[in-house]
Amino acid sequence: MRLQIPNIMMGYEDSGSPGSTSLPVILFIHGNPLSRKLWQPQLTGLADSARVLSLDLRGFGESDSTSGPYSMEMLADDCMSFLDHLGISKPVIICGLSMGGYIAFTIYRIYPKRVRGLILADTRAAADSLDAKKNRDRTILLVEKEGVEAIVRLMLPQILSPNAYTTRPELVDQVRKIMHDTTVPGLTGVLAGMRDRLDSTDLLTTISAPTLLLFGEEDQLASKPEIESMHMAIIGSQLHWIPQAGHLPNLEQPEIFNSHVKQFLTSFTDK
Ligand code: MLT
Repeated sequence: MRLQIPNIMMGYEDSGSPGSTSLPVILFIHGNPLSRKLWQPQLTGLADSARVLSLDLRGFGESDSTSGPYSMEMLADDCMSFLDHLGISKPVIICGLSMGGYIAFTIYRIYPKRVRGLILADTRAAADSLDAKKNRDRTILLVEKEGVEAIVRLMLPQILSPNAYTTRPELVDQVRKIMHDTTVPGLTGVLAGMRDRLDSTDLLTTISAPTLLLFGEEDQLASKPEIESMHMAIIGSQLHWIPQAGHLPNLEQPEIFNSHVKQFLTSFTDK
């Protein structure tokens, strides 16, 4: 499905039905280089417990692209316009994976009243180091020169747990297809936006919304000590490591991921 928000048509899914108005709403925000297809197991697996919304960020999936950079603030505004256009004004649970987590932090920083809870998956609070910024610039040049295939070549071998590459070829293929659901302006737009994003470390201690941290135990792109400090800094947060999963635990181990989310939802008593 697509809807119009300021400047772009946005692709999205909505598990909502007239009977689901009393359920909590979860907005799922994908990482890079992915699309809302990342969240298919959550759309099907969580629809009886929540109104599940997933969207394509600008430049990804079925959403229009514009010229970059796409700051995290711009993407956070797109997410809020999306909720406005669906007529959702009550606070929602924001679930962001990796770059989706950077956007979730930005939403919390700018629109805390719209956040009922946070689910942060395989993300980090710190801004890019100087080396990471330089690496973003190199990747932007590479994608401009060689197209989407360049980012697939870079990211696909790192994004799943090491064993998945030999034991789950269908999953590797599924992720490859999702990675091709991207565009050059989208990729270069978010690479520049991530390079310039604010550091959210100081925000962590101010988070009062219930927060669930879900991380793949074999995430090759995350640092365990960084995750543990994020957990310590967000008062009352819950942290679960998902076994046999890399950077996309919701896709590699959907049952485990969904069961943690369902358990988390029981803490929202007025649902
Ligand atoms: C992602 O999965 O969204 C990216 O790995 C995040 C990043 O490049 O910092």
